[in-house]
Amino acid sequence: MPEIDTDRLRSLAIHSLAVIRGNQAPSGAYLASPTFPVYRYSWFRDGAFIADAMSRAGEVGSADAFFDWCRRIVEDRAGQVHALVARHRAGDRIPARDFLHTRYTVDGTDSPEEWWTFQLDGYGTWLWALDAHARRHGTDLARYADAMALTVEYLAEFWSEPCYDWWEEHVTERHTSTLAAIHAGLHAVAGRIEIPGPLAVSAAEATDAIAAAVRSQGVHDGRLTKWLGGTDLDGSLIACATPFRLVDPAGTTARATVAALEAELAHGGVHRYADDVYYGGGEWLLLAGFLGWHYANVGRLDDARSQLEWIATHATVDGDLPEQVSDHLLHPETLPEWTARWGPVARPLLWSHAMYLTLALELGIVPLEVVSR
Ligand code: BGC
Repeated sequence: MPEIDTDRLRSLAIHSLAVIRGNQAPSGAYLASPTFPVYRYSWFRDGAFIADAMSRAGEVGSADAFFDWCRRIVEDRAGQVHALVARHRAGDRIPARDFLHTRYTVDGTDSPEEWWTFQLDGYGTWLWALDAHARRHGTDLARYADAMALTVEYLAEFWSEPCYDWWEEHVTERHTSTLAAIHAGLHAVAGRIEIPGPLAVSAAEATDAIAAAVRSQGVHDGRLTKWLGGTDLDGSLIACATPFRLVDPAGTTARATVAALEAELAHGGVHRYADDVYYGGGEWLLLAGFLGWHYANVGRLDDARSQLEWIATHATVDGDLPEQVSDHLLHPETLPEWTARWGPVARPLLWSHAMYLTLALELGIVPLEVVSR
């Protein structure tokens, strides 16, 4: 890999900030990607990580605006949340399409397109990011109290339901990285004054149950598995350690998981999983960012810097970052069909920029305005 100097790394971080700012709607929503038609929506998952990066960078107003967008979405669906909980308690089998969606239009309406809408992780991630933002910047969360309580109610009721994963696949499974996001969100807010006592108890019970389920069904050969009861690996498992801390980042389970990923899926860029056929199954920049963040977190600073450099090498001359790159495809035969269907790989992808920015801040490539983990 060619050497990349620190000035280039820094200017890419500043460009990442600009890309994120430039693609935030007045409503606060972040477009997943402005140029890729099916990504011209805002996802709870992508958005929460993007807002987290902006919060770390000191872009308080941008993060606030996103969290307010989430707040309004959840508040507008209070009736739906209560009805879902009542149906669940009455023993109703709720179809996936009836749950809260994972992505919305920037104006906060449900997208009419067919999509894999039932994904729980983003709701955990927004609570996690909101709490971290409030602690970092001293934000008063009073206006979020209803939306936080509704989200806790929803997650505490439904955390054990199978749903689509980070990659919007495998709806019949319970995904370890989804559970880690829910765990992190519930754990972050359970003790906050905005959450009424009985809900705080449900949140604490759910986090204990999630941790126990992952311990007993989400570990194989000492490392985490993609879903409960399985044996496969997935790049998103990094997040179970960093940043979600479902497992101790320095502990044996995290070490074994990262070692297995390094052996099978991570070589600079990180593949999502071995059978990935989306655009040929290339290497994802945002996962390279998560891995670097994890390395930084456990003190592997040279490895962390290599991850940042790997991402930087895959920027366009203008500094834009794609979702994935195709120098090393797991299933090259599937690339043409995706290109014919949806055009070239999404670029810029705001989530890629967010993970680059987060890692650059962790490494002090750009001044860390507020030190927080
Ligand atoms: C990814 C999701 C992501 C979405 C928007 C999908 O291809 O699998 O994780 O949320 O794109 O970026």
